[in-house]
Amino acid sequence: MPLAFFLSFLRLLNICFNLTVSLFSREVFVLTKEKEEEKEKKSESKKSGPVIELRGVSKTYRMGGTQGVEVRALSGVDLSIRRGEFVAIMGPSGSGKSTLMNCVGALDLPTQGSILLDGEDIAKMSESDLATVRGEKIGFVFQNFNLIHSLTAYENAELPLLFQNIEEGERRKRLEKIFSRVGLTGRWDHRPMELSGGEQQRVAVVRALAVDPEVVLADEPTGNLDSKTGLEIMELLRELNEKEGKTVIIVTHDAGLVKHVRRVVRIKDGRIISQ
Ligand SMILES: Nc1ncnc2c1ncn2[C@@H]1O[C@H](COP(=O)(O)OP(=O)(O)O)[C@@H](O)[C@H]1O
Ligand SMILES: [Mg+2]
Repeated sequence: MPLAFFLSFLRLLNICFNLTVSLFSREVFVLTKEKEEEKEKKSESKKSGPVIELRGVSKTYRMGGTQGVEVRALSGVDLSIRRGEFVAIMGPSGSGKSTLMNCVGALDLPTQGSILLDGEDIAKMSESDLATVRGEKIGFVFQNFNLIHSLTAYENAELPLLFQNIEEGERRKRLEKIFSRVGLTGRWDHRPMELSGGEQQRVAVVRALAVDPEVVLADEPTGNLDSKTGLEIMELLRELNEKEGKTVIIVTHDAGLVKHVRRVVRIKDGRIISQ
């Protein structure tokens, strides 16, 4: 009798256990599903919203310590850029174009206002998220190419991939494709001094594209090039925009280069005067 009682007690215990386990896993399943749906919704709204949005952005530099003079580089800038747009930023020297680009690319922070990248405020990001933005979401191209002279074209372009710990085979595969894409196959063992200005800027474009960024920021990329080579770089950026859907923001002085650009943002004394 005690044995039969004990066995039925065990059976009851087993039923209770199974019931708890199934209820618990159901709960976990529902929770995981809800979380996934939420994540999906978030990423969908990210995709449909503007890729970059500036709201009331101001930037003041203070020169010569706390007692020094203030230089207001940007004043209350509102700007919204959609995914896949090609935007040219124009304005006189000292009007705040580079400051704007550096803030958008998370190289510098605004003194006031917010900069949303894919809906997330750059100012509120952790240092590691900022590093991801700089390293993966944004590709920079500068006026003076910013290549390292002791490294070959290939090694220069490879740098951002090394920072991301991408393995050698994959690095080579990606870079071969982009080098050929910009017409530089056969030049990758050259050091910057052994390349023309236009070729150096192409290497910089390869480096910017290596991480497959969402946005390419080019600050006067044609400023150090003759007009024909400048036009070629401009065409390359346009193709990247049209064929590969990259969002491209380019700063330029050259009105001739932006003849066919649909959206030109004009900036003066740190303010947008037309967009
Ligand atoms: N790091 C800095 N420290 C102090 N002033 C700066 C700094 N960077 C830019 N400025 C000043 O901010 C203003 C805008 O500069 P910048 O954004 O470089 O203009 P642009 O690229 O249109 O020529 C200028 O008056 C410039 O002197
Ligand atoms: Mg500048």
